[in-house]
Amino acid sequence: MRKRLGILLSGRGSNFEAIARNVASGKLDCEVGFVFSNKPNAPGLKRARELGLTCGAMESAGQDRAAFDGQVARLLHEQGVDLVCLAGYMRLLSGHFIQQFPGRILNIHPSLLPAFPGLDAQYQALAHGVKVTGCTVHFVDEQLDSGPILLQTAVPVLDSDTLEELSARILAQEHKIYSEAISWVLKGNYRIEGRRVIET
Ligand code: GRF
Repeated sequence: MRKRLGILLSGRGSNFEAIARNVASGKLDCEVGFVFSNKPNAPGLKRARELGLTCGAMESAGQDRAAFDGQVARLLHEQGVDLVCLAGYMRLLSGHFIQQFPGRILNIHPSLLPAFPGLDAQYQALAHGVKVTGCTVHFVDEQLDSGPILLQTAVPVLDSDTLEELSARILAQEHKIYSEAISWVLKGNYRIEGRRVIET
C-alpha cells in the first residue's frame, strides 16, 4: 500500500504544492493523505481543497498547546498518516505530539542549519552577511529547528540580493530537496546515529 503523507501548513503552501506535484507526476511514490492547517484561511489549504485532497483546519490562536496538538494527532491517526511533513507550519509542536510519531516528522527550514534557526531565516542570513546560505530538511525533535539533518542545499548570497530575491532562490531549492528527503525516508534506507542520518 502506498504510504500516506500528512502535511501541516500555516500559509502560502508552496512546499506543499511542490510535494503534491511530485506525487501527481509519480516522481514521489506516496499519496498526500491529509492536509491540515492551524490557520483556516491559509492559501495553501485552499489550494489543497482545490486539488480535492482531504483537509482539516482548526484555528490555533489562544488554544492550549497540548490539547490542540492532541486533536491534530488524532486527525492524523484517523487519516492513517505514515509520515508528517511540516511545510511552513508556524507552530511549535508539543513533546507529546512528537513522541506519537517517532522519527516520522520532517521539517524544511530556509537556512543551512544550525545557522539561523527560528523566524526570518533568510533575513537573518542577509543581516549576518554570510556569502552562502541554503535550506535544510531535518527530522523534528523537541527543540526548534534542531533534529537530525537529512538533506541540505547551499545557495549563494549575492551582493545585489534583496530579501525577496534571496528567499526565492532558496525556495526553489526547498521545493526540490523536500521531495527528495521524503522519498528517502519512505524508502527507509538510512539509520540515525546520534545527530547523523546515514544512508544504508
Ligand atoms: C518556507 O520557507 C519553509 O522553509 C519555512 O516556511 C516557508 C513556507 O513556505 N519553514 P510555503 O508555505 O511552503 O510556501
